Amino acid sequence: MSQAAATGAPRVLATTTGTHARILGIGAYRPRRLVPNSEVVDAIDSSDEWIQQRSGIRTRRFAEPDESVQMMSVAAAREALAHARIDARQIDAVVVATVSHLMQTPAIAPAIATELGCEEPAAFDISAACAGFSHGVTLAADMVRGGSARHVLVIGVERLTDILDATDRGTAFIFADGAGAAVVGPSEVPAIGPVVWGSDGEQFDLIRQREDWRDVMASPTPITPHLTMQGAAVFRWASFTMAKIGLQALDRAGITVDDLDCFVPHQANMRITDAMARAMKLPDSVRIARDVADQGNTSAASVPLALARLYEDGDARSGDVALLIAFGAGLAYAAQVVVLP
Ligand code: UT7
Repeated sequence: MSQAAATGAPRVLATTTGTHARILGIGAYRPRRLVPNSEVVDAIDSSDEWIQQRSGIRTRRFAEPDESVQMMSVAAAREALAHARIDARQIDAVVVATVSHLMQTPAIAPAIATELGCEEPAAFDISAACAGFSHGVTLAADMVRGGSARHVLVIGVERLTDILDATDRGTAFIFADGAGAAVVGPSEVPAIGPVVWGSDGEQFDLIRQREDWRDVMASPTPITPHLTMQGAAVFRWASFTMAKIGLQALDRAGITVDDLDCFVPHQANMRITDAMARAMKLPDSVRIARDVADQGNTSAASVPLALARLYEDGDARSGDVALLIAFGAGLAYAAQVVVLP
């Protein structure tokens, strides 16, 4: 037995920092090709009017062949690094939230980090679907506060068109492609509030890959596994439950809706955003992200893309207090209050 153990002293040293965390920069990449409702309606026997009424979506963006998960991630990350005024070599960890990197292993994060010029950071992917970016920000903040990384790059990226069935009426008009990124680093004051997060595996089947890989491999005829969603059930869950989660995140950050400048919910459906804003009784002064109208639902990319759009439209400013809330397959959710960079 070592002398330390014999005396009851700790046998290993722990990391402590005493620092807080903040988002230092935001970046976005929107695929070039704009796809109006008129382009998707025929295959699903729908109409522009129905899609706009039920979801608020007018157009979305679909990635072209060169706009890969890696390419879009690198572009969004470069913008976030520039906004944060951080060099890629200062990044200690890269966390990529995605469900559409179509290789079981390795994760895409190390390839992205290398292309960016990061110097051997920790780099890994996380799978929390539409809630992925908010999970990544939570991990990043805890890494900075806990001392395992000083600067963390969080990326939310999807190329959902690769796993969409263009004839599926429940998904083909909703989901789309894109990437968003944030740099999280140290702060002298708290600027990322406590997370409220969780999951409900009872509802595991509501949004899922239709056929798992064993079914695909066992099938005598080739099949492509597609994304499927029981939209109405997800709609009810999101509309009734997520407002409560948002209010809990405000409460845990020690603020009320009156202290809020911006509300950035996952861009699932304009009606869900409106229902949440009503249930939370957000004052008219709160600027609400409504990126879904032009961008569709980009899953893990939707919150950072929506936040970037608020900046582009002059509706978000440095120092603003924003509530981020993301939810989706799992079912999984995460919400936190942040001070904007
Ligand atoms: O990102 C992860 C989280 N995802 C979400 O939060 C998505 C949540 N769900 C939704 O956004 C909505 O459920 C949708 C937009 C997907 C669908 O809207 P809905 O109002 O829930 O439609 P519904 O599935 O309840 O269908 C209503 C009607 C049905 O017809 P009847 O039975 O009332 O005659 C459907 O057959 O609309 C019909 N319908 C369609 N009509 C035209 C269903 N899909 C379509 C379609 N085009 N694409």
